[in-house]
Amino acid sequence: MNILVTGGAGYIGSHTCIALLEAGHSVIIADNFYNSKPKNVEKIMEITNKTITFYEIDVTNAAAVERIFGNNQIDGVIHFAGLKAVGESTKKPLKYYYNNLVSTIVLTKACIKYGVNRFVFSSSATVYGDNSVPFFETMNLLQTTNPYGETKVMCERILSDVAIANPSLSIAILRYFNPIGAHESGLIGEVPNGIPNNLMPYITQVAKGKLEKLKIYGNDYPTIDGTGVRDYIHVLDLAEGHVVALENLTNGVHIYNLGSGKGTSVLELVKAFEHANDIEIPYEIVDRRPGDIAECYADVSKVERELGWAAKRNVYEMCRDAWWFERNYKE
Ligand code: WQD
Repeated sequence: MNILVTGGAGYIGSHTCIALLEAGHSVIIADNFYNSKPKNVEKIMEITNKTITFYEIDVTNAAAVERIFGNNQIDGVIHFAGLKAVGESTKKPLKYYYNNLVSTIVLTKACIKYGVNRFVFSSSATVYGDNSVPFFETMNLLQTTNPYGETKVMCERILSDVAIANPSLSIAILRYFNPIGAHESGLIGEVPNGIPNNLMPYITQVAKGKLEKLKIYGNDYPTIDGTGVRDYIHVLDLAEGHVVALENLTNGVHIYNLGSGKGTSVLELVKAFEHANDIEIPYEIVDRRPGDIAECYADVSKVERELGWAAKRNVYEMCRDAWWFERNYKE
């Protein structure tokens, strides 16, 4: 199939493009490089030895999206492009609501107009808010803790309503937990803009000496060791999950948790990183980060039952691959 991947130059998008190409599909990337690097497109082609059609556009631009659909035979869309910094979303809510909702509406309208019936949407575990773990797809979505999370809830609702009105559409909504790690080549990985918000890129930059020490946001949570517990999933597992979801799409809307189904605390991840890479990570316990929840991990039985997919790689592999990329990375 010929798949349009929005945000395909980004961290998860680039790994998914590799998985798509290696599964025999062809890829069109639409990306505005707001949170990615142009050379990622070349690296995807280098790793797979395949060519990619590429458009540098903002997918909120309906005319630009129209040109892509008009000039290409598209069999499916995977929509990654979106703003995803939780903290920034609380400071700039309108930017997040506009970008994340309008891009989804523009793409869905183009799919309907051009008869493209396969749509995979990048959602997030953030939609669960502070529910009790493990998170099930059937849970009522509580109020999330930030505008970013709200944009994901709203996009899910938009897509569900559109699917009801357009029965030929097949939509997969994939709720990611905490993707970390990198492709084994060490050529692509997570490159945050500025000081990393997320845990693993912060750890790898401490390991590299770019940052002095890790600040652990609180050790007084009701968890195994007081630090936050999350469901880490290797980005390659996540990418492969997208290909399986796309290839097994059926009519209607299908929501899946893409996680490992296991909870790992901050301290446990730090120790796993130290053991996997034989590196010490200095850290300091500081106050909790506003908006953080104690525990977030998935029930993954639905995706295993319906798609036969499960995450394969363990935390040590995630830590090893994340470090391998950071060590090789040159600004
Ligand atoms: C993980 C744990 C922190 C940094 C976020 C978004 C989510 C998704 C993934 C988009 C927490 C602790 C972190 C640090 C720390 N993004 N931590 N020191 O917050 O679970 O999820 O990224 O879809 O929507 O909310 O990920 O990596 O920021 O934090 O102690 O310097 O590490 O408190 O317990 P999070 P994270």
